[in-house]
Amino acid sequence: MKEILKVTNIAKDGILNNISFTMEAGEMVAIMGPSGSGKSTLLYNVSGMDHADGGEVFIGDSEITKLSEEDKSKVRLTKMGFVFQQMNVLSNLNLIDNIMFPALYAKGKKHEKTVRQQALALMEEFEIADLADHMTNQVSGGQLQRACIVRSMMMEPEILFADEPTGALNQKAAGTVIDAFLKINKKGTSIMMVTHDSKVAIKCDRVLYILDGQLRGELLLGKYQKEEEEERQKKINTWLSSFGW
Ligand SMILES: Nc1ncnc2c1ncn2[C@@H]1O[C@H](COP(=O)(O)OP(=O)(O)O)[C@@H](O)[C@H]1O
Ligand SMILES: [Mg+2]
Repeated sequence: MKEILKVTNIAKDGILNNISFTMEAGEMVAIMGPSGSGKSTLLYNVSGMDHADGGEVFIGDSEITKLSEEDKSKVRLTKMGFVFQQMNVLSNLNLIDNIMFPALYAKGKKHEKTVRQQALALMEEFEIADLADHMTNQVSGGQLQRACIVRSMMMEPEILFADEPTGALNQKAAGTVIDAFLKINKKGTSIMMVTHDSKVAIKCDRVLYILDGQLRGELLLGKYQKEEEEERQKKINTWLSSFGW
């Protein structure tokens, strides 16, 4: 299998202390750990949104830690997608314009028609196409987060980074969002997702546990299957309780 992500001894400000791990292409990995343990910092440094003090990060063949800021932005825009708990949307634009915004920026205004078609097709797939003309405050949290997921997929990234994407949602909305991630993953996009919700983590292939900026453990679950839900939940509960969770 091809490696999509290779992180070696990444360090940052004493917050991250030499974390190493790899991800195979097509994997969906959850990062868990207590608040303040460095999960968001890890995600920002792995994706090149923040500048690490030491260590190496490869996304596919690109060594992120060696790129200029300009090249890093380019790689972020074309190879990576991002989804956050605080959905950063422009409240003066409707849903579809929010979704199209970064792709239009990347591809240029002359591609507006195809970008719109692509946005609508993806919105259809994630059941928000009928909301295209709604303003961002006229849709529910789950719908807005799915719009953010669609936005993150517009450039067909190889890897999607998500930081507590269900953190601000009720359980039902969280379910629709995690289903969207599973769908995307099934089509081949790798996903690295920070979550504190074990119900979300059990949908992932593998879970990493971060404590005090160190990688403390790893739980291998394999691809999610609904029949295994209970078994996976038991497994993760036992595993998490070994960390005093
Ligand atoms: N920009 C920053 N400057 C200084 N300290 C920070 C900064 N961002 C986060 N921290 C600190 O780093 C630690 C890890 O934070 P974070 O990665 O946000 O944790 P998590 O996402 O696991 O809750 C925390 O102690 C936090 O206070
Ligand atoms: Mg965080």
